Amino acid sequence: MSSARFVLLSLCSTLLLRAALGAIPLFHICSNPENFTANSPYEYNLNNLTSFLYIKTPSSGFGLGSIGQHQDQVYGLALCRGDLSSSECNACVADAGAEIQRRCPRNKGAIIWYDECMFKYLNADFFGQIDKANKFSLWNPDNASDPALFNRKVRKMMTWLAKAASSTPRLFAVGEKGVNKTKLYGMVQCTRDLSAAKCKACLKGAIGGLLSCCDGKVGGRVAGGSCNIRYEIYPFVNV
Ligand SMILES: *[C@@H]1O[C@H](CO)[C@@H](O)[C@H](O)[C@H]1NC(C)=O
Ligand SMILES: *[C@@H]1O[C@H](CO)[C@@H](O)[C@H](O)[C@H]1NC(C)=O
Ligand SMILES: *[C@@H]1O[C@H](CO)[C@@H](O)[C@H](O)[C@H]1NC(C)=O
Ligand SMILES: *[C@@H]1O[C@H](CO)[C@@H](O)[C@H](O)[C@H]1NC(C)=O
Repeated sequence: MSSARFVLLSLCSTLLLRAALGAIPLFHICSNPENFTANSPYEYNLNNLTSFLYIKTPSSGFGLGSIGQHQDQVYGLALCRGDLSSSECNACVADAGAEIQRRCPRNKGAIIWYDECMFKYLNADFFGQIDKANKFSLWNPDNASDPALFNRKVRKMMTWLAKAASSTPRLFAVGEKGVNKTKLYGMVQCTRDLSAAKCKACLKGAIGGLLSCCDGKVGGRVAGGSCNIRYEIYPFVNV
């Protein structure tokens, strides 16, 4: 009896801890420095849109919506990594929708990235356009033993994945490839408001960006508001 209670208590505190901490964001940008006022229609619409995306996104891994009119209209989207279950997607979008308002309080536009999802909103219609303004990159500081050869392998794999992703409706592709004893794992994904051609163009830009962040590095990613790419020498997606 007492041990059952102990298990229950520690389970509860684990869940509380998880709820309190949430997932850790990789990066955020308060993309529009203009502020909305408290209790304004914009704030109401943003909260409404956040709930809408929270409900809408998990079933397919992508949600897109706009609420309000004229200067109070808010546009937003959420994208989960293509391999996630709907419950994992749900948890990430919930964290993202709350955290973006803590990090960019009252900003009329913002974007936040996690390992497992991305959440973006703005007071202007950005649907269907490649977001060239919001981006960041991350890398593993370790160098490949033959950087030039490794770069070529990465580039070849990512180019192949970009082609594969842009020819599926999900605009998502993962792959792996043997490089001697080490294996290379890659992933590319676009937001699904983009056409296939725009997705491919966005991914091409991201692959080009690998040269400045991740030259010869054993892991790297370039993430933007419309697409993101990642490669590692260990598996990082569930396939
Ligand atoms: C928005 O509000 C913040 C915090 O009050 C302030 O620092 C910033 O200057 C404001 N931005 C604009 C564009 O007014
Ligand atoms: C959110 O906006 C939609 C569409 O305008 C509306 O139908 C709905 O009642 C709103 N929900 C809340 C919670 O305000
Ligand atoms: C990787 O190579 C760069 C450039 O040669 C060097 O500055 C850096 O220290 C290396 N990183 C590691 C983790 O060895
Ligand atoms: C793979 O192994 C060969 C022969 O040992 C070596 O020349 C080559 O540089 C290795 N490739 C990579 C990417 O490390």
